[in-house]
Amino acid sequence: MPSTSVVTISRHINDQERRHPDATGAFSNLLYDLALAAKIVSREVNQAGLFDLLGSAGETNVQGETVQKLDQFAHEVIYKAMDHAGHLCCMASEECEDIIAIPDRFPIGEYVLLFDPLDGSSNIDINVSIGTIFSIHRKISSGERGTLEDCLQRGTEQLAAGYVLYGSSTMLVYTTGMGVHGFTLDPSIGEFLLSHPDIRIPDPGARLYSVNEAYRDRWSDEQRRLVDHMKGTGRYSARYIGSLVADFHRTLLRGGIFMYPADSKSPEGKLRLLYEAAPMAMLAREAGGRASDGVRDILDIEPQSLHQRTPLFVGSAPLVDLAERFLAGTSEI
Ligand code: AHG
Ligand code: MN
Ligand code: MN
Repeated sequence: MPSTSVVTISRHINDQERRHPDATGAFSNLLYDLALAAKIVSREVNQAGLFDLLGSAGETNVQGETVQKLDQFAHEVIYKAMDHAGHLCCMASEECEDIIAIPDRFPIGEYVLLFDPLDGSSNIDINVSIGTIFSIHRKISSGERGTLEDCLQRGTEQLAAGYVLYGSSTMLVYTTGMGVHGFTLDPSIGEFLLSHPDIRIPDPGARLYSVNEAYRDRWSDEQRRLVDHMKGTGRYSARYIGSLVADFHRTLLRGGIFMYPADSKSPEGKLRLLYEAAPMAMLAREAGGRASDGVRDILDIEPQSLHQRTPLFVGSAPLVDLAERFLAGTSEI
């Protein structure tokens, strides 16, 4: 007998708004618009193999990475879904070097959207899960329009964070600081329905570690000792998908630790603080886990630039703590 309790994301957002004393409808409308953009990107992702949406767009982005057509498509969809409703003062995207102003013809809002339009691009052409990651801040600058200052805020200041996972089903997972909630898209009615209320990282969770071991020779001795310790216990399994959203989603639901450490080639790590690590860190904290750059909590890092990178250790708190002890060279195991 199918469930009759249908909690759509709109109803859930409204319920959450009622619990936020100072929430305004604008914040809820911002989340609705994001959910709409997610449905449109999901539709294209699920048909990418049928249309000319696979492969490279023949350009490289500010990261020096080859821009996939779907990267560009997802960026455009999110930008156009979010630029006109009057909720935002500015945006920032992995695909744009500078902050994105709201066009003059549209009203300016009180919020900031930072996003990775398509995460896991290397997996697009092989039909492996990819995602979209978003982070929402409140405008803090004094002028009318948003500025870089509004984008360079600590992770602790985030009002909301979440991701869309385009996998065997499309899921939207988000937090506004009152727990982590997962919605699964029912394409037959075009609605995200609550499927994973109050997600908590299991404790003790699965002994899973997730890291790209091909880079072992580039790691620090401490990083190598950490992974050797995990392997040596004989109690861990390794999983690595190569899409942060997919690796994080598994970690959120099963436990374990995802690591993208600094290495000799990427001394600051590869993942970007503002629209990859910080949103994942808010979700992990809200689900009872935590995220670190190996030394300090990701949420406490004061951003210096829009696309700055950071090492990332995220998942079950005891395992992130263990990683920090090994990286400090102090772990007695
Ligand atoms: P993006 O596609 O947005 O550039 O992100 C890719 C990131 C992240 O999704 C994943 O965790 C990481 O790249 C994988 O990097 P490696 O291929 O170096 O392991
Ligand atoms: Mn990414
Ligand atoms: Mn991306």
